[in-house]
Amino acid sequence: MNKTCRCFVALFVLFFWLPAICCEKYKLCVVDGKEGYKKSTRYCPQLDAAESTVECVVALDRMDCLRRINKHQADFAVFTPEDLVAASNLELEVLITNELRYEREKEFEYEVVAVVGNHANIRSRHDLRNKRFCHPGYGYETDWTRILSNYFEASTVPPQCDPQLTITENRVRASSEIFLSACKAGPWVRNAVLDRELKQKYPNLCRLCDNPARCSKQDKYWGRRGSLLCLTDGAGDISWARLDDVRQHFGLTSGGKEDSPEFYSLLCPDDSVMPLNSTDPCVWVVKPWSVIATRRTKAQEIQAIISSLNHSDVSPWKSSLLYLLETAYVTVQTLDPVESIESYFHKAKGFLSANSFSGCHPPRTIRICTTSNLENAKCAWLRESAAVYGVEPDLDCIKADNVTHCMLALNVNAADVAVVPPDLVHSGLRDFKLKTLFYETAKDEDKYVSVAVTRKGTKFDGFKDLRGAKACFATYDGVAWHSTIRTLQKLGLIGNCSVNEALAKYFGPSCVPGIPKNESLENLWKTCQDGFDGDLGALHCLSSGIGDVAFVSRNSIKAFVSGSGQSPDYPSSNESTDDFVVVCPSNHYPCHMSWAPLGQAMVRSNSTELWMKDTLDVFLLLDSLFGKNYRDLTPSFEMFGKYEWHSNVLFHDATLRLREVPTAKNTDQMALPYEELLRQAPVCRSGSERGVALLGAVMLCATLVFSF
Ligand SMILES: *[C@@H]1O[C@H](CO)[C@@H](O)[C@H](O)[C@H]1NC(C)=O
Ligand SMILES: *[C@@H]1O[C@H](CO)[C@@H](O)[C@H](O)[C@H]1NC(C)=O
Ligand SMILES: *[C@@H]1O[C@H](CO)[C@@H](O)[C@H](O)[C@H]1NC(C)=O
Ligand SMILES: *[C@@H]1O[C@H](CO)[C@@H](O)[C@H](O)[C@H]1NC(C)=O
Ligand SMILES: *[C@@H]1O[C@H](CO)[C@@H](O)[C@H](O)[C@H]1NC(C)=O
Ligand SMILES: *[C@@H]1O[C@H](CO)[C@@H](O)[C@H](O)[C@H]1NC(C)=O
Ligand SMILES: *[C@@H]1O[C@H](CO)[C@@H](O)[C@H](O)[C@H]1NC(C)=O
Repeated sequence: MNKTCRCFVALFVLFFWLPAICCEKYKLCVVDGKEGYKKSTRYCPQLDAAESTVECVVALDRMDCLRRINKHQADFAVFTPEDLVAASNLELEVLITNELRYEREKEFEYEVVAVVGNHANIRSRHDLRNKRFCHPGYGYETDWTRILSNYFEASTVPPQCDPQLTITENRVRASSEIFLSACKAGPWVRNAVLDRELKQKYPNLCRLCDNPARCSKQDKYWGRRGSLLCLTDGAGDISWARLDDVRQHFGLTSGGKEDSPEFYSLLCPDDSVMPLNSTDPCVWVVKPWSVIATRRTKAQEIQAIISSLNHSDVSPWKSSLLYLLETAYVTVQTLDPVESIESYFHKAKGFLSANSFSGCHPPRTIRICTTSNLENAKCAWLRESAAVYGVEPDLDCIKADNVTHCMLALNVNAADVAVVPPDLVHSGLRDFKLKTLFYETAKDEDKYVSVAVTRKGTKFDGFKDLRGAKACFATYDGVAWHSTIRTLQKLGLIGNCSVNEALAKYFGPSCVPGIPKNESLENLWKTCQDGFDGDLGALHCLSSGIGDVAFVSRNSIKAFVSGSGQSPDYPSSNESTDDFVVVCPSNHYPCHMSWAPLGQAMVRSNSTELWMKDTLDVFLLLDSLFGKNYRDLTPSFEMFGKYEWHSNVLFHDATLRLREVPTAKNTDQMALPYEELLRQAPVCRSGSERGVALLGAVMLCATLVFSF
């Protein structure tokens, strides 16, 4: 090596390699929660200090952090044990360096036990038949996932798999047949009507409650202490409860003593019993603490940093880091040595097995149809997250090329559920014999509201002035297309028959992307160009001056002007929303033509009522776990959030909640729902049809006459 070369190498090392070693910071993946828990803006800037060895990477949700760690875009983050189960199922490798404990000496967040009254003579799980069961109930799924709250019954009650019943009803019926009575207060399923039906059908599972008729979250015997009160009030024989609550309830630790422990025992999973005050009580299942998990290669260094943190530290970046890691005041416990997920759960009795109870055979897996790799990937995360929280039936993700193909897949029974945008709903109903399972509801300003738009300065005073105007439609057979037809019909501007031809005559040279290219309809496709497809394409057609009026969704104007969601076919326009004006149909109508929810999940129209119930319940439960009203401090997985920074993947970001009706609230009164418009489509009574009907009537009369 000559001198220059050596010098070059030295320089190279100095400039590129050294900084890489000395200044590469460890990346903490931070997830912001709801209002009070938006910590990134407050604490992350402190980590920019020169002496800090950590920096923030802000993620969408905790599953996003798992992905980033896996892709080496982040080094560590805080996770719940449920997150770790998902990671393990997805074969993502992380190492656990620290536990976030509320109490230093407690090995687990909580342990769950079965307490029996000695009078009841329960010595093993075989003695449970015809006993009275106090259950903490439902409606606090983040604290007690369904898996933990159902664990006792899942381990002791023989499962039922009647194909004529929903999965939930099978489970309810199995318990109902084993126990004489129970108090299982709170929502059994998310749909209030179904919940009431089930509770009426299996009343013995509410009979122990203080108010059996309501059997609600307000019940005296609902919740962590409720199930113990139910036992010690003498209502029940056995209670499923947290060990720490049991100890407090029976005065074994500080706190009011509700009853004497010597009258009660613990029923153990190995079919033995032991005294309540045992020093080594038998537990059925434990909930491990939340943890800090890291990339495999950086575990030791990160653990060292975290272990050096302490609340009285004066260094601002270190205390900020501690605030970013903690949710409330917790002790950060070091795990020595660092552990894999498998070995961490190995100590956590029951926790992993709780996640692998086998369902009924044949499985009732719900196959969701997706239309891109991105959608399919988001769907896969939804599937794993659902499994971890005990959502049944389980989900699967099937990829097709586009929504039309998804609808076809439903029709031929290759998939079960597809999310269909408003423009394709009519085709779904008509061509693929589908029906709606649920809607993605939204606030009024986010709804799909179809309107007629013109450029400022064009004088159109209502739809009657649109005769001869050059029109731009988003798509043939879409919401705006059908809504325009209905509106013109209601105004008496076109007739009820041969509507395509009627529109071709009503408008001047226009573009309706996708319309059959018949000669008689030439007027409706002759101005079409590349890039005129869809709402944004229609606005492009309008703004380029080729059209006078565009029939689109109201929100697309904002998207068009801002260039967001713009197709790469055309660059962002230099217009503002003020350059567009909405034309109202007439003074006697609302200014829009129709409105639709953001999207709707469609299923085969021959789907059974039973299947619809089961499947709807799954999605409503997913909504409560991963929708806008999640109850964790930070979101685990946002089904209505961006995925890998892309908007509207699988579901719409603006979705408020999923409902079996199109409105977000029952009080929602917005006029002209699109579905109703489709249902009320006028029938064409053409001359020939009337003739046939007349002939039929004559023949019927004749038959009647002859039969006398
Ligand atoms: C449990 O309670 C019984 C009866 O009160 C008592 O005899 C026994 O010593 C207690 N055991 C422990 C471990 O405290
Ligand atoms: C926390 O840090 C302060 C100052 O750096 C130190 O005096 C104290 O001993 C530390 N406490 C613990 C528990 O490590
Ligand atoms: C889906 O693709 C097919 C052709 O493969 C096409 O005919 C259809 O219009 C497409 N549907 C949508 C919604 O883009
Ligand atoms: C519904 O139709 C699909 C395909 O057309 C068929 O495979 C399926 O068995 C039908 N389901 C019921 C419940 O009739
Ligand atoms: C237009 O074309 C479709 C098929 O492409 C045909 O069914 C229909 O009858 C045609 N309509 C007219 C008016 O020619
Ligand atoms: C921007 O506006 C000017 C007139 O204000 C117009 O001439 C030009 O074509 C517009 N550019 C685009 C990209 O629309
Ligand atoms: C069109 O249909 C509407 C509603 O079905 C009806 O009231 C109206 O009389 C019909 N008009 C014609 C011309 O048939």
